[in-house]
Amino acid sequence: AAWEKQVRLSSTPRRTNGFSVLVTGAAGFVGSHCSLALKKRGDGVLGLDNFNNYYDPSLKRARQNLLSKHQVFIVEGDLNDGPLLTKLFDVVPFTHVLHLAAQAGVRYAMQNPQSYISSNIAGFVNLLEVAKAANPQPSIVWASSSSVYGLNTENPFSERDRTDQPASLYAATKKAGEEIAHTYNHIYGLSLTGLRFFTVYGPWGRPDMAYFFFTKDILQGKSIDIYKTHNQKEVARDFTYIDDVVKGCLGALDTAEKSTGSGGKKKGAAQLRVYNLGNTSPVPVGRLVSILEGLLSTKAKKHVITMPRNGDVPFTHANVTLAFKDFGYKPTTDLSTGLRKFVKWYISYYGIQSKTRKESQATGESG
Ligand code: NAD
Ligand code: UGA
Repeated sequence: AAWEKQVRLSSTPRRTNGFSVLVTGAAGFVGSHCSLALKKRGDGVLGLDNFNNYYDPSLKRARQNLLSKHQVFIVEGDLNDGPLLTKLFDVVPFTHVLHLAAQAGVRYAMQNPQSYISSNIAGFVNLLEVAKAANPQPSIVWASSSSVYGLNTENPFSERDRTDQPASLYAATKKAGEEIAHTYNHIYGLSLTGLRFFTVYGPWGRPDMAYFFFTKDILQGKSIDIYKTHNQKEVARDFTYIDDVVKGCLGALDTAEKSTGSGGKKKGAAQLRVYNLGNTSPVPVGRLVSILEGLLSTKAKKHVITMPRNGDVPFTHANVTLAFKDFGYKPTTDLSTGLRKFVKWYISYYGIQSKTRKESQATGESG
């Protein structure tokens, strides 16, 4: 009963006509930022996360602590736990689901293929099964990925470009998610909006991502690997700052149609929507490193590898015209500005051992 009370309290909106949102992956990078933003504007938010150890779970716990200070409660559980999800929907009439829980990361799939199938395919289907049976049926906004464009060479990427050449199992499961969403929209009239995020970075980010561990390794004097494309070009990414992505997620929630409980072919039924949420200006990885060097006042020990990383795509570049047209999405943070905010957070979070050499020298410390 105490649990139920907490669940209800967390998910009850404080503003008139506020949403009641189930955020899956709420202890994750994007999920924690979106949960806070929704709560701050008066929506009710309930988190769900299994706190898996794909990367340091203590970072997930720290995000959870931050959320709990803002009265956002995270239920510890798995997407594949049908009875748990059903119970949550029994207790709370969620208006929306922001589904961000997934097995992320492109390279990890080489060692752990099953975790991608389990979270990104089976877990997504389980969530949709529960959502379809819920009364009211929630509108669902979920994270797809720029990786669905795979080896597509159109530049920039538009939502109608081909997505039939995934370069990794991660990409293949994200693409599968889009197909599955289509089915649930078509048969059950669920309102579904997929967001293709482009390499998101910022404070409270993911330690498995390059900008994050490059920062760590540069500060610790360790060498970093920089991969090239097949034809020896620099790999580039459309790095997108977290605050821009959060605005995009909220915009997609705000403009999501209602689920109708009837098939997608029927009149008035919600459409399946898919949007790019990127920054629209790809940056080569070498440039990312030089920005970090400047911010950290430390030269990186660069180890250039003249081959691509397994599962990597050579470049990503978003066209965001559609998201702008439908919900005013407009990225405003360039990579230098965003990385400055990230580095500031990184040093404050990891404390003294992360000090730059300059700072250590200035305070007379050694090592
Ligand atoms: P993240 O790993 O920080 O967050 C995902 C969270 O989901 C984690 O806290 C994890 O514990 C939880 N989770 C995973 N599997 C679960 C399961 N089966 N049940 C319950 N919880 C589970 O990742 P993120 O960077 O915040 O990514 C959020 C979403 O955006 C993911 O779907 C990811 O694939 C997608 N995405 C991220 C990026 C990016 O650059 N960060 C880019 C494109 C797409
Ligand atoms: C990121 C996320 O990790 C995925 O979860 C997400 O789905 C994807 O973005 C996306 O946009 O869809 P990725 O862009 O590969 O994937 O992010 P990183 O692993 O941080 O790599 C960024 C760049 O750094 C890549 O170009 C990669 O080649 C390069 N890199 C990475 C290196 O040069 N050296 C390394 O040691 C690691």
